[in-house]
Amino acid sequence: MNAPTSAIESVLVENRVFPPSEAIQKAARVSGMAGYEALCAEAEKDYEGYWARLARENVVWSKPFTQVLDESNAPFYRWFADGELNASANCLDKHMGTATEHKTAIIFEADDGQVTKVSYRELLERVAQFANGLKAQGVKKGDRVLIYMPMTIEGVVAMQACARIGATHSVVFGGFSAKAVQERIVDVGASAVITANFQMRGGKELPLKAIVDDALQMGGCEGVKHVFVYERTASAYSKVAGRDMSFAELLAGQSTECLPVAVEAEHPLFILYTSGSTGKPKGVQHSTGGYMLWAKQTVEWTFDMQPSDVFWCTADIGWITGHTYVAYGPLAAGATQIVFEGVPTFPHAGRFWEMIERHGCTVFYTAPTAIRSLIKASETDEKVHPKNWNLSSLRILGSVGEPINPEAWMWYYRNVGAERCPIVDTFWQTENGGHMITPLPGATPLVPGSCTLPLPGIMAAIVDETGNDMPNGAGGMLVVKRPWPSMIRNIWGDPERFKKSYFPEELGGKTYLAGDGAVRSEDRGYFRITGRIDDVLNVSGHRMGTMEIESALVSKTDLVAEAAVVGRPDDLTGEAICAFVVLKRPLPSDPEEAKALANELRNWVAKEIGPIAKPKDIRFGENLPKTRSGKIMRRLLRSIAKGEAITQDTSTLENPAILEQLGKTH
Ligand code: WTA
Repeated sequence: MNAPTSAIESVLVENRVFPPSEAIQKAARVSGMAGYEALCAEAEKDYEGYWARLARENVVWSKPFTQVLDESNAPFYRWFADGELNASANCLDKHMGTATEHKTAIIFEADDGQVTKVSYRELLERVAQFANGLKAQGVKKGDRVLIYMPMTIEGVVAMQACARIGATHSVVFGGFSAKAVQERIVDVGASAVITANFQMRGGKELPLKAIVDDALQMGGCEGVKHVFVYERTASAYSKVAGRDMSFAELLAGQSTECLPVAVEAEHPLFILYTSGSTGKPKGVQHSTGGYMLWAKQTVEWTFDMQPSDVFWCTADIGWITGHTYVAYGPLAAGATQIVFEGVPTFPHAGRFWEMIERHGCTVFYTAPTAIRSLIKASETDEKVHPKNWNLSSLRILGSVGEPINPEAWMWYYRNVGAERCPIVDTFWQTENGGHMITPLPGATPLVPGSCTLPLPGIMAAIVDETGNDMPNGAGGMLVVKRPWPSMIRNIWGDPERFKKSYFPEELGGKTYLAGDGAVRSEDRGYFRITGRIDDVLNVSGHRMGTMEIESALVSKTDLVAEAAVVGRPDDLTGEAICAFVVLKRPLPSDPEEAKALANELRNWVAKEIGPIAKPKDIRFGENLPKTRSGKIMRRLLRSIAKGEAITQDTSTLENPAILEQLGKTH
């Protein structure tokens, strides 16, 4: 990479530009802006022809498609609808008999540092055997299977095995609570659960099976006939006879050969729950054909994946990034990838750098929150600074999940990438299936803090509330004007909510509304994401609905009368959760009592949703600031949360004294 064209380190106006070096550009799959523009032009000229070509090149079809895009029931778009395929065959079987067959598919590093490797052949055999086990227990095409597993090879095997038999998986992140698991089991109508007895994180053994047991007791889970348990540790766990079965029992006597079940392109490969602005989390339903196309293509374009690469995406399989860039994309592309069970700070905050060196990682993909916390750790302890490890194997770095601030970008670029590795700042969402707006490492000149330009064929734009295009420099709502193959197909069981959330009438009913604000730069037209425009927070790259947290708080009926949740900027986590609470008792006068109450509420939220949803700040008041019509003045709450002076008109407030009360954090 060349030196920055401007050295002004300003956050507000970002002038630095880092074009790809000639060497990187020459070797890349998409070479130079000319390569990028040629693909964009192809998509512009013949949209369906372009996607059909990519679908033929990237996917092995057991029955070729003849239709490309079906818009007859928009916004319920269908892609390649008469084609058939199997996702697992597209990740594993197709490599058999090629140079990839005996290549390492996964390098697994456990929390305690133990390393296990599996080749593509071995992975296929494990997936096939698992699929046979599931079949023997009556799991079949169309069934929904809930997966609540740690980051392990077994987690990937479980997902692939479901795909192999046409069962739709729904993975729940291992940090979610029993209540969250139960809600998802009920909503998705799961007939089986795949879990582990425990998970190992940061040297601690944490229960998973016990949480599943709690969830299943909460009611509405009668549909669950089986619980399959991976015995991750030697510790005992409780087993319900006739329902629970260890992996060893499930796999005993099962063949390591299993024909993949061909499914229609639109068959739901998975349903993944994510937070929306209202109500309960939504089950984002993805297809098989369009999703697999983009999972593989984006791995090859955005990460320029080459046969010699060692890829590492640090995301958990419980999130979309772990689906597309751990469980499916890298395997479809025939890459060698690292799967890591643990946490970046155990046994020390140099673990990521140590692992990059140990495994010769070439492409590293993580979240800004992780980078920021490791910056902080290395500032206080030199010994965990990346300079202590040999990171020369790296050639591409990636960022995902939240905006990366230019300071963190520069640190990552200098200290991890040695000013040699392009950073791909990938913007996308659970609903998108794969990358949407991102630099291409051998093409796009980089600007810190900008996700730059949409991938070829992704018709992203910025519009105002009535759908008019905004000029560069003026902010607006991020939309995608044409359907694309890996997009969300539905909200499981709630098509009305799907239409309302993503294809609002105000925008004509066919334009995808991302829910983020964005602005394009005046000089290059580069996109910069300015954050959510709805009531969704992004805390450490995790999506949280403010309503979800509010409902959790008010469900503590003995204590809470009313609650409002807003986000405030946080240096480390991007956003922090701030809760305003009206108690069913007088305001605590003793600060110790207030603190104890605040902690009780935090633990309650952890139990209702998961520890990631715990409010950082809790503020008590006798009331919440409301308009005359009774609407909570959220903008005012945001100012209070930030500690800003109140400039809004507060004359309509019934009791202005509450502003002072709400100013105190507990
Ligand atoms: C945010 C994660 C800025 C955005 C893949 C989006 C980003 C939400 C970026 C989706 C990025 C994701 N720059 N913001 N590179 N990537 N976001 O569904 O607000 O967990 O709407 O998908 O994260 O989060 P989700």
